[in-house]
Amino acid sequence: MNRAPLIFLGVFLALAFSWTGIVLTNQVAYGNLTPIYDDAEEKIFPEATPGVAQRGQLVYQDLGCIYCHTQQVRRLGYGSDIERGWGERQSVPRDYIREKRVLLGTMRTGPDLRNIGARQADSTWHLLHLYDPQITSQGSVMPPYRFLFEMRKIVGEASPDAMNLPSSYVDGTPLPPHSVPTEGYELVPTERAKSLVAYLINLKDTYAYPETFNVFPEEEAEAEQSEAPAEEGH
Ligand code: HEC
Repeated sequence: MNRAPLIFLGVFLALAFSWTGIVLTNQVAYGNLTPIYDDAEEKIFPEATPGVAQRGQLVYQDLGCIYCHTQQVRRLGYGSDIERGWGERQSVPRDYIREKRVLLGTMRTGPDLRNIGARQADSTWHLLHLYDPQITSQGSVMPPYRFLFEMRKIVGEASPDAMNLPSSYVDGTPLPPHSVPTEGYELVPTERAKSLVAYLINLKDTYAYPETFNVFPEEEAEAEQSEAPAEEGH
């Protein structure tokens, strides 16, 4: 008996089924998401990423920050992300529509960075932290990224970007001598460091899209309160 048509049909159905499940359903659910124009703010959200931050995203990918950091805030009840201050609301698909590569990540050795720009907007802080995480965050296990900085001889005038390092860590231990510039030398961030920091500071999903309305903590609390009276008196 010739089983070829049957085998063909089986293979075809298996492929068609998985294509529908993996490609088509996602395309239907997320493919038509568009940015939203806010009349009051006169801006489009999500906002376009500045060029320097886009370059910074490449540095982020290149250095493998994703192996320790996620960029996805889980909703209330699915983890303590919001209690930890990693975001005001859960992440929604629309947050990511402008990104060519979405860096969700799976490992959380360090904090979620989706809203790092909202909680730490100081570029000096980020530069010090990248140079040596112990300077800003005592006991941090994050590796130092010293190669993003250049220790160079001051020729002529000192660079306006030159870093001002503290003499000791938070606990009073002096910084290792090799990481502090000696007389006549200066420590300056490279372009990679600067664009990476621009990327980090630009990371913030604080805008409330229509679909995020019921995922804000206050609103959920209010919803709970309005249900509460029925239980009063118990
Ligand atoms: C080996 C794991 C690891 C890697 C790789 C790593 N980090 Fe971290 N990161 C951590 C840990 C742990 C913390 C928390 C302690 C601290 O603040 O240093 C942290 C904290 C941070 C913070 C501060 C977060 C906050 O909420 O205050 C930023 C920003 C950050 N990392 C950026 C980066 C960037 C950018 C890279 C890639 C260049 C990177 N990290 C690579 C582990 C890592």
